[in-house]
Amino acid sequence: MSFETKKDVLDWYEKQPRTLTKEFIDRIAWQDIKKYPLDEKLVPVLLYMRDVEALTDMYYEELRRTPTGKDPIISKFMERWSNEEQTHGEILNRFLNEAGIETDEKWQTQVRRAVSRFYTVNNYLITSLTNLVGKKFTATHMTFGAIHEMSTTQGYRRLAELANHPVLTEILQGIIREESAHTHFYRSIARLELRNSEFSQKLARFIVGNFWTPVGSGAKPKTESDYTIVTLFSGKDGLEWIDKNVTQRIQNLPGFQGITKVSDKIGEIVLQQTSKI
Ligand SMILES: [Fe+2]
Ligand SMILES: [Fe+2]
Repeated sequence: MSFETKKDVLDWYEKQPRTLTKEFIDRIAWQDIKKYPLDEKLVPVLLYMRDVEALTDMYYEELRRTPTGKDPIISKFMERWSNEEQTHGEILNRFLNEAGIETDEKWQTQVRRAVSRFYTVNNYLITSLTNLVGKKFTATHMTFGAIHEMSTTQGYRRLAELANHPVLTEILQGIIREESAHTHFYRSIARLELRNSEFSQKLARFIVGNFWTPVGSGAKPKTESDYTIVTLFSGKDGLEWIDKNVTQRIQNLPGFQGITKVSDKIGEIVLQQTSKI
């Protein structure tokens, strides 16, 4: 589906019903979670994903200070988007609790507090720089958003496959449906913004090519983000998965032909970590 204007993209998004409604959440067989084994090595992955979902709030706050966040269409989307991401974090936390893994009642506050000062300062600088470039930076923001949403979706798909836990699969399928709608929004807006300007294409490609790192890294310790990547994507099939479902789809964006940043970065992390073992 391709759109001619940003308004069309927003209209499409607003027509999508929420998947993780109260009814959906109430219908989940929470009481059955303990009946199935949960591979211990996936617990840190679930915690990482939970935290990254919760940190969306901070990113949202930051983005609201930029011309991208002030765009009426994007800000309308982001209000609902950031709510949905919060639900993802909460639902993953509940899954962990029902599986017998205790978490602090104030985990959200703790996660936010743990974000390093370096990250906060760095983010502040990026926001200020972004404001200098102005609206031309929107394409970069949207491309970054599309890559993050796409890679998160693939992360959840892999997680469901590796965990092979029926209740977790059901939960993740719900989350994935919402992530797919996010991807579609970001990617469609990115395409329109990139199509409009060669400068935007060059800038977005430069920033992605030089600064893209997996979602959550920077805000969360590198050890945790590397662990998640290696657990989900190590091995030939994991890397092929990223190539097919993320890299090749990014290459379809205007100005992004041939870019392999995401595959390269993930491959590099996997290689570094597996050679340590
Ligand atoms: Fe999410
Ligand atoms: Fe998302």
